[in-house]
Amino acid sequence: MPTGIEGLDEMISGGFPRGRVILVIGGPGCGKTILAAQFLYKGISEHNENAVFVSLDETRNNFYEEMLKFGWDFKKAEDEGKFVFVDATRLSRLAIIKEKMLKEETSSLRGKQLQVDKLVEELHAKMKQINAKRVALDTLAALFYRFMDPIERRTAGIDLIEALSDLGATTLVTTELSDLGLERKLSEEEFLVHGVIMMQTLYFGGTTTRSFQVEKMRGVSINSNLVPYSIDKSGIEIFPTMSVFREK
Ligand SMILES: Nc1ncnc2c1ncn2[C@@H]1O[C@H](COP(=O)(O)OP(=O)(O)OP(=O)(O)O)[C@@H](O)[C@H]1O
Ligand SMILES: [Mg+2]
Repeated sequence: MPTGIEGLDEMISGGFPRGRVILVIGGPGCGKTILAAQFLYKGISEHNENAVFVSLDETRNNFYEEMLKFGWDFKKAEDEGKFVFVDATRLSRLAIIKEKMLKEETSSLRGKQLQVDKLVEELHAKMKQINAKRVALDTLAALFYRFMDPIERRTAGIDLIEALSDLGATTLVTTELSDLGLERKLSEEEFLVHGVIMMQTLYFGGTTTRSFQVEKMRGVSINSNLVPYSIDKSGIEIFPTMSVFREK
């Protein structure tokens, strides 16, 4: 499936494997939301593939406004029946902070899992409604604040990824980088998904460089080098023939 991200298709033998879940890992401000939105919007506008965006971070108006800056009119796509925005910010970290401030009872594990199950149900219904081929969930990290216990957290993440795989669309799931730098432990989620993309800002020689890496994409041959990427008014562009490490 063509990704809609300039430079990415040639790194992964033409595009994302259809019907699979791809994890996009990145630190704050790396462009995870923009990448996810670009994948969906290009699908709608260039390939006639409808899309659903599940947002745990940003509200609808905020998202529409931000993305319009790139010329991506999601409101229009929604009006034309090509796009659905699922607002799941009630499950986000901000929601949980508010709950705590109001001293509301934090929900039981069963309750929390039910909320995730309900989200998947809602997503499935919206996908069927518009026959969506592309889905993005932004971001898994926001959901994790609900599950304080590391084991609960892992189980919830794994369950959600499995549920998303069963829905049949090509799905990008964004999440945050737990450690900075090049070395880091692999998480269960990374083993579970079909593809893993890493976006990060590297610091060296007194400057910062945005660095993009395809860590894995099952079943396709990939360029797994660390390559630079940029964000500008037309979105994200990757430079697959360049290296982030400048030669001396
Ligand atoms: N028109 C633009 N030109 C250049 N850079 C831009 C432009 N618009 C946004 N950016 C950059 O995009 C980044 C934000 O992208 P995005 O919101 O997708 O990141 P994110 O990884 O989702 O962040 P967060 O962790 O806050 O959710 C900012 O760092 C900003 O510098
Ligand atoms: Mg974001």
